[in-house]
Amino acid sequence: MTPKKPEVPRLDNLTLSRKEGLGAMAQAPPRKRPELLTLKQKADLGEAALLEYEQERSVWHANIGPLGTPQLKALHEDLWDIVTSNQQDGDKAKGAVAVDAHPGLGKTTAVLNFALKYHRQVIAREGAFTAAGHERWPVCRVGLTSNIGMKEFNRSLLEFYAHPGRTTGTATLFARRALDCVLECETRVLIIDDLHFLKWQDKNGTEVSNHFKYIANEFPVTLIFIGVDLGNRGLYSEAHALGNITLAQTARRTTPLTMEAFTVTNNKQRMEWRKLLLGLEKRIVLCQAFPGMLADELSDYLYIRSSGHIGSLMTLINRGCQRAARTGTELLDQDLLDQVKLDVAAERARKALAEKFARRTMTTKPRSRATKTVA
Ligand SMILES: Nc1ncnc2c1ncn2[C@@H]1O[C@H](COP(=O)(O)OP(=O)(O)O)[C@@H](O)[C@H]1O
Ligand SMILES: [Mg+2]
Repeated sequence: MTPKKPEVPRLDNLTLSRKEGLGAMAQAPPRKRPELLTLKQKADLGEAALLEYEQERSVWHANIGPLGTPQLKALHEDLWDIVTSNQQDGDKAKGAVAVDAHPGLGKTTAVLNFALKYHRQVIAREGAFTAAGHERWPVCRVGLTSNIGMKEFNRSLLEFYAHPGRTTGTATLFARRALDCVLECETRVLIIDDLHFLKWQDKNGTEVSNHFKYIANEFPVTLIFIGVDLGNRGLYSEAHALGNITLAQTARRTTPLTMEAFTVTNNKQRMEWRKLLLGLEKRIVLCQAFPGMLADELSDYLYIRSSGHIGSLMTLINRGCQRAARTGTELLDQDLLDQVKLDVAAERARKALAEKFARRTMTTKPRSRATKTVA
């Protein structure tokens, strides 16, 4: 057999800070899973075909997902509720959302996945161009970097739309131009990722909070904030500055949502963990992989390594698959995964968890259905 390169556009060299990047991601056909070969079939590949196959498999493993985890599904339901209920006329300020959770729990992934679905839905329903003939961009997304102030924030909005006036002007001018873009492109959802990069306690923080109030009032968009520890950083705090009630308004209008790590304290949660691993192992393309490779053989181990954090788990699986393919092991087991290095937080949690599993005070194994019925 000759492995063929799938006819899909490259998605590895784009940025979501520009509308074209987001559009390309939204319109890309689903990635095609490389064919699962036997060891013999792989050995029979010619040199060029093998190189191509390995590259295809490597890219596939680097992009597994997003998986429909319970956390992701729940977040999507809430986002649909809020975004669709925000279709009031433009004179009413719209409810905002703050997705607030620790790093590595899948906030960016889940919100982006929602945004892409929303983008496709609106474009399918209303077309790629507005009645006035402008490009339609249902979603605008900006990612903040440290120390950002109002002007830089507005500038990043203009960057997203590639507005010609994004290089010179004042903060106020930038804001007006951004509003023009939002209105012309009929943008309905504005995602602000990594909001914790704002310095909330200084002048910038207050300024930008005021600015969000302005956006909430003037822009006909649902604001989706994403960040770490937003509540404690002052997103909703009322006593931020003397006589300043803007933050109180943000509190009144913003619905906090969160995402949790997987836990395994009861049977339902253990079933969820198992379901995640079953879904994940179906996507692995290794010649010697077998059903139950993750869900039966490595369930406890993967929990100990990742402490139930989807980010650490996916990194471990991705790196493990790369190593298994490269070294010819062609399956995942504890020996191989032990050689894969992970993030500091996961490694720190690992020892304590391993002890609990060893003492059998913790397990990821659900009681079988039969036992449950008897019980
Ligand atoms: N539902 C999911 N399915 C598969 N992988 C996921 C999922 N959610 C997150 N990930 C992976 O976990 C890592 C961290 O996710 P990310 O969304 O960046 O987390 P956060 O924004 O909360 O820090 C990413 O590399 C991503 O690929
Ligand atoms: Mg993120």
